[in-house]
Amino acid sequence: MWVSLVSLLPLLVVAFALPSSDSEHKVKELVVPPRGWSIHGPAPLDHLIKLRIALPQSNFQALEDHLYEISDPYHERYGAHLSKEDIEELVAPRPESVDAVAQWLHSHGIQDEDMGRSPAGDWLTLRIPVALVEKMLDTKYHVWKHAGSGDYLVRTTSYSLPKSLHEHIELIQPTTMFGAFKKLKSTIHSISEADATIQTQNLRPIVDAAGVTVDASCNTTITITCLKEIYNAVGYTPSATVGNSVGITGYLEENANRADLQTFYADQVPAAAAVNSTFKFISVAGGLDSQNSSLAGGEANLDVQFAFGLSFPIASTFYSTAGRPPFIPDIGTPEDTNEPYTDWLDFILSHPSPPLAISTSYGDDEQTVPESFAKRACAGFAQLGARGVSLTVSSGDGGVGDGDPDPATQECITNDGLNRTRFIPGFPASCPFVTAVGGTIHFPEQAVDFSGGGFSDYFARPSYQDAAVKGFLSKLPKGTYSGLFNPNGRAIPDVSAQSDFFRVFIAGTPRSIGGTSASSPTFAGFVALLNDGRFKKGLPSLGFLNPLLYSKAASGFNDITVGSNPGCGTPGFNATKGWDAVTGLGTPNFAKLLALVT
Ligand SMILES: *[C@@H]1O[C@H](CO)[C@@H](O)[C@H](O)[C@H]1NC(C)=O
Ligand SMILES: *[C@@H]1O[C@H](CO)[C@@H](O)[C@H](O)[C@H]1NC(C)=O
Ligand SMILES: *[C@@H]1O[C@H](CO)[C@@H](O)[C@H](O)[C@H]1NC(C)=O
Ligand SMILES: *[C@@H]1O[C@H](CO)[C@@H](O)[C@H](O)[C@H]1NC(C)=O
Ligand SMILES: *[C@@H]1O[C@H](CO)[C@@H](O)[C@H](O)[C@H]1NC(C)=O
Repeated sequence: MWVSLVSLLPLLVVAFALPSSDSEHKVKELVVPPRGWSIHGPAPLDHLIKLRIALPQSNFQALEDHLYEISDPYHERYGAHLSKEDIEELVAPRPESVDAVAQWLHSHGIQDEDMGRSPAGDWLTLRIPVALVEKMLDTKYHVWKHAGSGDYLVRTTSYSLPKSLHEHIELIQPTTMFGAFKKLKSTIHSISEADATIQTQNLRPIVDAAGVTVDASCNTTITITCLKEIYNAVGYTPSATVGNSVGITGYLEENANRADLQTFYADQVPAAAAVNSTFKFISVAGGLDSQNSSLAGGEANLDVQFAFGLSFPIASTFYSTAGRPPFIPDIGTPEDTNEPYTDWLDFILSHPSPPLAISTSYGDDEQTVPESFAKRACAGFAQLGARGVSLTVSSGDGGVGDGDPDPATQECITNDGLNRTRFIPGFPASCPFVTAVGGTIHFPEQAVDFSGGGFSDYFARPSYQDAAVKGFLSKLPKGTYSGLFNPNGRAIPDVSAQSDFFRVFIAGTPRSIGGTSASSPTFAGFVALLNDGRFKKGLPSLGFLNPLLYSKAASGFNDITVGSNPGCGTPGFNATKGWDAVTGLGTPNFAKLLALVT
């Protein structure tokens, strides 16, 4: 019996055989194989992995304290954003950690010049073969296959580190991260042919209960003019020369096409068309900039056309971050399938002056991103907020669920081996340091049924939304959805904006696109306009928005009280008076917000 145990559990036996010492390995992270994934075969030993090692940030708590002070409109330090150097000092790892990790890597033959470092030195990246990673992490990688999508990943379900290193390393990936990264998808809800011309049919303008008047066509076709009408920004003229900026992130080889932007401008922003206004392209980690019109991306085009169209002539940048598709067995491509926000964060945090409002319309189910990784990426978003950057993120398109149509994985089933039914929040929307933007539809506005909303299972509710969210929870009938969500979690979304029938040009053709993918760049466009108003008064950029939105600026929103976000076989949450888990605080009233922040 003992003998067979030895042959079954060689690693365990080695651990017992060694004298207890610092070099003894101890499990760092262990997961059950998530639903839908099974072992396909052994991992090729020479397969290259791009390993990311996170060293603990020495003083993140102090950074968070600063962030909350400078983002609180009633605090004397409001707007006193930190510099790149301030931030790097706060998140730099302790010298002991740097030394211990370097020593360990050297002992495996890895030299300093083989390692990439983030600006603060809190992330190391190295490209090394599976055989070496297995030795360093006392683990075994396999090729895993996903039943529904047929995707492959090279992963393990646990990894170990010498005991003495546990306090010096926060996490290492790719190890246990099973996110189906092909599905780290844009949240485009639908694409359909739009009429080449907008049908107004001589209808009378629509006037809502508050007296806001919009063109009749805006009920079913959203243009830049419609958004300015609905959100009370008609006639506001931003400046190109006050140092303002706006950015859009692109992933998964989504191309923002400049010719399409010109066509869109000719259609909806004549002043931008007249000067051939365009954006600056920045490649991150090898992201491409194909201008081949047949490769124009629906997501990238939607994002740049609306964010930049709303904020013209404010300086605009599109970031394309590379991220390879999942592993292809038998092809020696390096493994580069970590969730790509961290590559973008490394890049943008090293930039001396990043854009001041940045929108991201990509997301994933929170449960497919390991908690340790989600927390580190979220800490990166906090750093950017402390630099004075406002980050908006789509809240997701599955209502309270994940909208998973795949029978192999099913909707709303937990990945923890227990197969519980549960609401599925999105990440990075669930990070408390971004502004999560949900969706509305039609005019007068109501919640759109796909608007991602709910509560994080990873992040506790931040105090800035305590009062608003408690108010919502207290109105829920007792026992509502008990066990399906974490009532103490960070609540999503923060705000919302129109999310359907956006008139976008793709490969020269007008299309109608929906999704909270449309809401986030829309909101970012208005944030850029608010920053414009502040700069004209000599005030700093808004930076991390949420503490402001839930306090001083709360009265600058149109409260949405009609609609709900069904999912997971439930009717979801209701849009209600005040904050709700469908539309957050509501949609922006630009003129009111401008008066509140300037
Ligand atoms: C807007 O469109 C919806 C859906 O087609 C329709 O039910 C509603 O009556 C329209 N509203 C107005 C004011 O025309
Ligand atoms: C804009 O581009 C068009 C076509 O390339 C060109 O004819 C026009 O002169 C340009 N306008 C300006 C203001 O640069
Ligand atoms: C543009 O992309 C399409 C689709 O991949 C391809 O067939 C075509 O050859 C490309 N055109 C150019 C000019 O590269
Ligand atoms: C969870 O579902 C998977 C896949 O359907 C199945 O293999 C596993 O046995 C289930 N686990 C439990 C605890 O029901
Ligand atoms: C939503 O509103 C309906 C109609 O008023 C009500 O029956 C239902 O209980 C509400 N659902 C939740 C989750 O509050």
